[in-house]
Amino acid sequence: PKDRPFTAAIVTLSDKGYAGEREDKSGPMIQQILEECTDSKYQIIEKMILPDEKAKIERQLCRLADQRQINVVFTTGGTGFADRDVTPEATIAVCDKMAPGIAEAMRNYSLSITNRAMLSRAVAGIRKKTLIINLPGSPKAVKESLEYILPALGHGLGILR
Ligand code: MTE
Repeated sequence: PKDRPFTAAIVTLSDKGYAGEREDKSGPMIQQILEECTDSKYQIIEKMILPDEKAKIERQLCRLADQRQINVVFTTGGTGFADRDVTPEATIAVCDKMAPGIAEAMRNYSLSITNRAMLSRAVAGIRKKTLIINLPGSPKAVKESLEYILPALGHGLGILR
């Protein structure tokens, strides 16, 4: 039923955030948007900040999917062109299937806001019954991307669980 919440995790990828050198504003932005979402209910059961290290990211994504069996994992950061940006590669490495339409939709909509949206290499995919979605790093980009895809997500998550 519509009121049974989907479990969610928020994973912030940021070397500076992990080191405590920068306040994470994007993770809390995801949390706020999910809490205010009226299309589906989301229960956030894990939040974490990780450094931009592929093996660490893969390990946590696997744990969230395999052990915790979370319905949806939102990542933020590490999708750009910097040498340390490896979030899409870690996501691809752990997914059984990709869901390219989600990232296409975010980029398509975001391009109407900024042409720099083409610089996000974000992907989305499925590991077991968990949907993993990469969002870009800035709070502004998170808000623009997440609010656009949320109305369609519940239908897909309902099929997965
Ligand atoms: N998408 C939206 N909707 N709004 C934005 O401001 N910024 C872009 C892009 N996607 C942006 C966006 C920029 S400037 C970059 S470099 C990429 O996301 C990657 O961001 P990341 O490296 O922080 O993940």
